[in-house]
Amino acid sequence: MDYVKLYAELLAAELEGALSCSEIERLIEKPKFLHQGDLAFPCFQLAKSMRKPPVVIAEELNARLQSSVNDSMERFEAAGGYVNGFLNKAKVTEELLIEIGQKRNHYGDLDLGGNQIVTIDLSSPNIAKPFSMGHLRSTVIGNSLSLIYEKAGYKTVKINHLGDWGTQFGKLITAYKLWGSEEKVKKNPIQELLVLYIKFHDEAKSQPELEQEGRNWFRRLENGDVEALKLWKWFKDESLKEFKKIYELMGIEFDSYAGEAFYNDKMDSIVKMLKDRELLVDSDGALVVSLEEHELPPCLIKKSDGATLYATRDLAAAKYRFDSYSFVKSLYVVGNEQSLHFKQLKAVLAKLDFPWAAGIVHVPFGMMLKDGKKMSTRKGKVVLLEDVLNDSIQLAEKNIEEKNPHLENKTEIAKMVGTGAIVFHDLKNFRMNDIEFSLEEMLKVEGETGPYVQYTNARTQSLLKKGGFKGGNEDFKWAAIAEWPVITELQNFPETIKRAIDKNDPSLIAKYVLDLSQAFNKYYGEVRILEENAEKNARLQLVHCVSIVLEEGLRILGVKAPKEM
Ligand code: ARG
Repeated sequence: MDYVKLYAELLAAELEGALSCSEIERLIEKPKFLHQGDLAFPCFQLAKSMRKPPVVIAEELNARLQSSVNDSMERFEAAGGYVNGFLNKAKVTEELLIEIGQKRNHYGDLDLGGNQIVTIDLSSPNIAKPFSMGHLRSTVIGNSLSLIYEKAGYKTVKINHLGDWGTQFGKLITAYKLWGSEEKVKKNPIQELLVLYIKFHDEAKSQPELEQEGRNWFRRLENGDVEALKLWKWFKDESLKEFKKIYELMGIEFDSYAGEAFYNDKMDSIVKMLKDRELLVDSDGALVVSLEEHELPPCLIKKSDGATLYATRDLAAAKYRFDSYSFVKSLYVVGNEQSLHFKQLKAVLAKLDFPWAAGIVHVPFGMMLKDGKKMSTRKGKVVLLEDVLNDSIQLAEKNIEEKNPHLENKTEIAKMVGTGAIVFHDLKNFRMNDIEFSLEEMLKVEGETGPYVQYTNARTQSLLKKGGFKGGNEDFKWAAIAEWPVITELQNFPETIKRAIDKNDPSLIAKYVLDLSQAFNKYYGEVRILEENAEKNARLQLVHCVSIVLEEGLRILGVKAPKEM
């Protein structure tokens, strides 16, 4: 039952057209404190048109609403310019618990998408380079967004736009041919290729001719030279093997691995379209699209030596994605430092009059910091993500060993907790915020962490088991003050999903599961859930609903919920 809507309808009838129902719905707030009721309508906006102070409007409205008391809304009250509505707690509780019990993990499913397609560009690491913290963030945020969109009724296509083309591969081939060893690369591909890449840059300082050599190799690669292609493909295969280990640890899958190279034969047509529309301008031999009217710097399409660029490939990719998937939205989960690139991409596509360009959305995010500084993969100071994940799993295992040594499936659960901790830590803050990386913090079972939510869920499971929960529809007339904060949180789940979609931000879901956990743990501290009396099974029904929603909330964040830990 949508009580916000119900309240809005009652108010609209009394306001006689001063505001529409949906305007009222948007204005209705959920008060922080119980004594302020469950739904609050602010009268401040009306002061001007009604030429009365908000306090007076609230009082008059309240007086008129008294005749609207019904079995869902039991009371109204004017307070400081607001009209507060109080729900009939027993009735709401009963309805909600029955609804969740029936819908189970489908509670909160929405039909916003009507099965339309959203493509999500996520993770997209660069071949022959370490998987960076930025790529981790993109993977985690993008994966959760895809789960949230699916829950809201969209179909999603997760695309890993691998950085597998570009001048750097010319440099890498040059370096490999000069100093590389097949054996070493096989043994430790990403580390070794990075060493070669760094060496290239160091040596090029005193031997500038290396740069030219690198460009030559890239040209050979672009022209389909057999040797160049063979090396490139080998680097790519080795790197992918490493990346896939990380994806497997995190339980993440992709619908497509079409990386930059995939668009090599798809750029000509879009470059031609730009040329036909006379959008290409010569700039010192290079070809650019001027974006002056968008107040953006020009977008470079071809270098003076004819080489294509990152942007050229992204233009072809965007068109390919629309042609293949007819998306309604196309998300790019990529660090904030690329926001200019995505503005340019969208502007160039708009200049080509593609109506779908409007569906392109860059979903940026902040940096991962260590001791306040950017976690860098440069200069050999690499933090290998696989090591980070394994450290976290090990630490989780150590915690289990200390607290619950007899737990079954320790290794499996340590994996769920260790990776879940990292994922949750990433997702709990508004995505644009920078985040400080600290394994100790992430793994704490107290405070705002993944393990805290997982632990709360495990607690609900153990209560259900100990209490011998039987299911069935109970009488919830007794439901009172202690249950209410938990009930209101449970009620908030569907609208939280909607807000997460509006903002493309999983942190709303992470904050939500934290709030629900806190409300539940407070309830657990106040009420003897397992006490043998007439209401026991009904209380367990509430616990059951909390566990359903916690599990589902964690699931759409990409975090596993062990039954025991
Ligand atoms: N490989 C790029 C990088 O690591 C990210 C690619 C993002 N996706 C895209 N379509 N441009 O910076």
